[in-house]
Amino acid sequence: MTELASNEPTTGPQAKSPYAAWLRIMAVLYDPFLWLGEVAGMRRRRRTLLAEAYGRVVEIGAGTAPNVAHYPDAVHELVLTEPELGMRRKLARRLDRHARTARILDAPAERLPLPDASVDTVVSTLVLCTVDDPESALREVARVLRPNGRLLFIEHVRAKSWFLAACQDKLLQSWRVFASGCVCNRPTLELMRACGFAVEADDVVWHGMPAIVHPLAVGCAARLSVGHAAR
Ligand SMILES: C[S@@+](CC[C@H](N)C(=O)[O-])C[C@H]1O[C@@H](n2cnc3c(N)ncnc32)[C@H](O)[C@@H]1O
Repeated sequence: MTELASNEPTTGPQAKSPYAAWLRIMAVLYDPFLWLGEVAGMRRRRRTLLAEAYGRVVEIGAGTAPNVAHYPDAVHELVLTEPELGMRRKLARRLDRHARTARILDAPAERLPLPDASVDTVVSTLVLCTVDDPESALREVARVLRPNGRLLFIEHVRAKSWFLAACQDKLLQSWRVFASGCVCNRPTLELMRACGFAVEADDVVWHGMPAIVHPLAVGCAARLSVGHAAR
């Protein structure tokens, strides 16, 4: 793999999320909290999905770098975006431990500092539930993707079962505070389609995690057409 940039995070606007303070704490607690889910299948799922990444890859909301070890050699440039400072620091430390160079950008998914049609693969794992404005983020993903580019994703989504969806609705606000802004009942696949993506996804269960985030959608999304997805 060609090494293109340093692992030093770039400076830029800090996250303005109302959950910023808690997000800083979550940067410490995040990996222990996810550990069971990772060993119960999420790690394997990340590896399988990311085997399809190639070329210039941008990962949004890269967090504590759980995906970094899984990028294949076909990825020749890796850009990791992460708007939260604590997460970004952890990300930089993790990258140094892996034999992987990437550029870290302090940028929200809603405003990617990248040219139009410049990216082969965008990766989003457990991020579209948390971004403040998922439609803007998806339109931004569509903007930066090359015509044949794809969004690879693992996202927890609104449940198909009415009972679990009702539980998600009921627990939404408490979960949102606990999980740094995460919207557990977000219909992310429907939002992708509304933003001009053709979506292929499998329904799976996120074992090892609370039931309200069990329903996972794992797959890829491609821009239907520039005109449809453009702002
Ligand atoms: C649940 S964590 C997921 C981290 C990692 N992608 C993973 O697979 O475990 C959500 C991440 O999204 C980041 N995030 C929050 N708002 C964001 C936004 N508007 N744009 C991009 N990332 C955002 C958070 O800082 C956090 O790192």
